[in-house]
Amino acid sequence: MTSCAITGTGVFTPRESITNDELVQAFNAYADLYNTENAAAIAAGEMAAKDPSSSEFIFAASGIEQRYVMDKSGVLDPAVMHPHLRVRSDDEPSIMAEMALAACRDALAQAGRKAEEVDLVICAASNHERPYPAIAVEIQQLLGAGGFAFDMNVACSSATFGMQAAADMIRAGSVRCALVVNPEICSGHLEWRDRDCHFIFGDVCTAAVLEPSDAANGAHFLIHSTRCATQFSNNIRNNNGFLRRAHDQMQDRRDMQFMQEGRKVFKEVLPLVSKHILSHLEDAGVSADSLRRLWLHQANKSMNDFIGRKVLGRVPEPHEQPNILQDYANTSSAGSIIAFSKYSADLEPGDLGLICSFGAGYSVGSVLVERAG
Ligand code: COA
Repeated sequence: MTSCAITGTGVFTPRESITNDELVQAFNAYADLYNTENAAAIAAGEMAAKDPSSSEFIFAASGIEQRYVMDKSGVLDPAVMHPHLRVRSDDEPSIMAEMALAACRDALAQAGRKAEEVDLVICAASNHERPYPAIAVEIQQLLGAGGFAFDMNVACSSATFGMQAAADMIRAGSVRCALVVNPEICSGHLEWRDRDCHFIFGDVCTAAVLEPSDAANGAHFLIHSTRCATQFSNNIRNNNGFLRRAHDQMQDRRDMQFMQEGRKVFKEVLPLVSKHILSHLEDAGVSADSLRRLWLHQANKSMNDFIGRKVLGRVPEPHEQPNILQDYANTSSAGSIIAFSKYSADLEPGDLGLICSFGAGYSVGSVLVERAG
C-alpha cells in the first residue's frame, strides 16, 4: 500500500491579539454594567451578581497569556462582548475561506506544490460558517484546486480526524495530494460574558498537505499510523444547530454558545487520552521512550503536563512537548497542528513524534509520524 506523508504545513495568525489583562478589564467593566443595570433584581435575590474575572486565575488555571482574534474591538467593548464579524454577501469569499487560503498557500509553498495539483480539500473545523455549499468547495475554487472537497466537524479533533481521512484516501490511491485545513473562529462561539470560560479560546487557521511519501519534494513526515476514537459526552456542548430558529423564539440562550463542565472534562479526558496514546504506540510497536516529540491539543497546560508524564513515564522536557497555548489559547482543532508546524523542523530523519488532539464528543485523534527526507 502507498505510504503517506505530511509534506507541508501553514499557520494563518490573525493580526489582532488580546492579553489576559485587556480581556479581564473588559469583562470586569461588563460585569459592573450588568450588576448596576440589574441592581434591584440582584438585591431582591432574583438574579445573581456577576463576579469579576482575574488574570492571575486565568494564567494559573490554564497557562494562557493571550489569544489572537479576528476582531478585537467588539470582544473588548463591554456593551458588545462578541467579535464584530461583518456578514459577507454571497459574492464575497467567506471569512473561513479567506483564512484558509492564507494557511493553505503557506502549506503548499512548503510542500513545493501548486494549488492545481491538489485533488482533495477537507475543511475540518469545530464550527462552519454555513451548512452548504461546503466551505471546502469554496476554498477549492478560490485556490484553483481540482478533485473534490468536503467539510467535516469533530470539534477539537477535526484536524487529526481529517488527516486520517485524507491519509486513508491517499493510501487507497483515490487521492494524490490533499489539503486538510482548519479555520477556527472560536471567538464566534465563545461566550465572552461568562467568566468561567471567557479566556479559553482564540482564532487561527492551520493547513497541512498530505501526499504519497514517494511524491514528496523535500523533507517530510511519514505518517506511520493514525487512530481515532469517540465516546459520547455532554460535558462540552454547543446547541446552536440548524433548528435553532425554527424551534423557538429564544433570546440569548446560553446553550447557543460553547459550554463545558471544565472540571469534569479535565478528569474524564485525561485518562482517555493517555490510554489512547499508549495503546496506539503499543499497537504500532513503538515504545514511548523512542518518541522525540509530542504535539498535544492545546487547551490547558496542566492537562498537557499530565498527559506528557503519563505517556513518557517522566516529566517531559519543554522541547519534547512544546506548548503554544500561552500565545494562542485554545484554538480547537488547530492547536496541535500549530505546535507541529512551529516545532518540528529541528527533528532529524528517523525521529518519531505524535500529534494528538482531544475534545468534544468526546473525541481523540492521534497521528504517529517519522521525520524523513
Ligand atoms: N476569574 C476568577 N475566578 C474564576 C474565573 C475567572 N475567570 N473563572 C472561574 N473562577 C472561579 C470559580 O468560580 C471557582 O470558584 P469557587 O471555587 O469559589 O467555586 C474557582 O475559580 C475554580 O473554578 P473552576 O472552573 O473549577 O476552575 P478550574 O481550576 O477547573 O479551571 C478550566 C477551569 C476551564 C481552565 C479547567 O477546568 C480546564 O481547562 N478544563 C478542561 C477544559 C478543556 O480541555 N476543554 C476542552 C475544550 S475544547
